[in-house]
Amino acid sequence: VNIQMENHASCVKNDLQKSRAAFCVLVGVTGSVAALKLPLLVSQLRQLPGVDVRVVTTEHAKHFYNPEDVSVKIYSDKDEWELWIQRSDPVLHIELRRWADLLVIAPLDANTLGKIASGICDNLLTCVVRAWDTSRPLLFCPAMNTAMWQHPITAQQVSKLKEFGYLEIPCISKKLVCGDEGKGAMAEVSTIVSAIKQYVQKPDESS
Ligand SMILES: Cc1cc2nc3c(=O)[nH]c(=O)nc-3n(C[C@H](O)[C@H](O)[C@H](O)COP(=O)(O)O)c2cc1C
Repeated sequence: VNIQMENHASCVKNDLQKSRAAFCVLVGVTGSVAALKLPLLVSQLRQLPGVDVRVVTTEHAKHFYNPEDVSVKIYSDKDEWELWIQRSDPVLHIELRRWADLLVIAPLDANTLGKIASGICDNLLTCVVRAWDTSRPLLFCPAMNTAMWQHPITAQQVSKLKEFGYLEIPCISKKLVCGDEGKGAMAEVSTIVSAIKQYVQKPDESS
């Protein structure tokens, strides 16, 4: 068992070995139907030159995509807890916040929005957020049913995240998967990718 754990730790260390030239984008994904778009988002981000991508998923988000359609390593709560056995072992949420130059949470569902607004950190994604280096960009893309969106707590919580310095990529109005029509749909993947692109340091600008 110990050997397996050591292998796990060295796999994670290798996977999160930072290449100096790369701009490292961590995609957080939560339990909204818009998580269906994870494979598309990851593949479009990977097409940006010099961008390296990893994913952190909540357990509920896993319901909405097939990991085989996602071409990068997806981290979840199991990895966090399997990785740490003894003092010298890496703590995954700290390794990930160190690795990432930018965090984008797409989609951000109502539940995780509420947790982040109040500082709760009970899973891998919310621990990365709580430990986030606020000098680095954190983008969030809310996605929820219109009725949930209209609840007065949503605006309060979104403002809270903006006060923390996080950037909202606003949701849009459209016919939602549940059949309702109105605001609450996640921004288009192309909008999210364009927003991230603004932060990607071009190699010729860094010298
Ligand atoms: C089919 C289905 C679709 C859902 N879509 C959304 C959604 O778009 N937005 C949202 O805020 N919650 C949605 N939920 C509810 C969340 O999955 C639920 O609040 C869950 O606890 C979120 O957990 P997480 O934030 O840890 O991923 C949906 C649930 C189901 C079963």
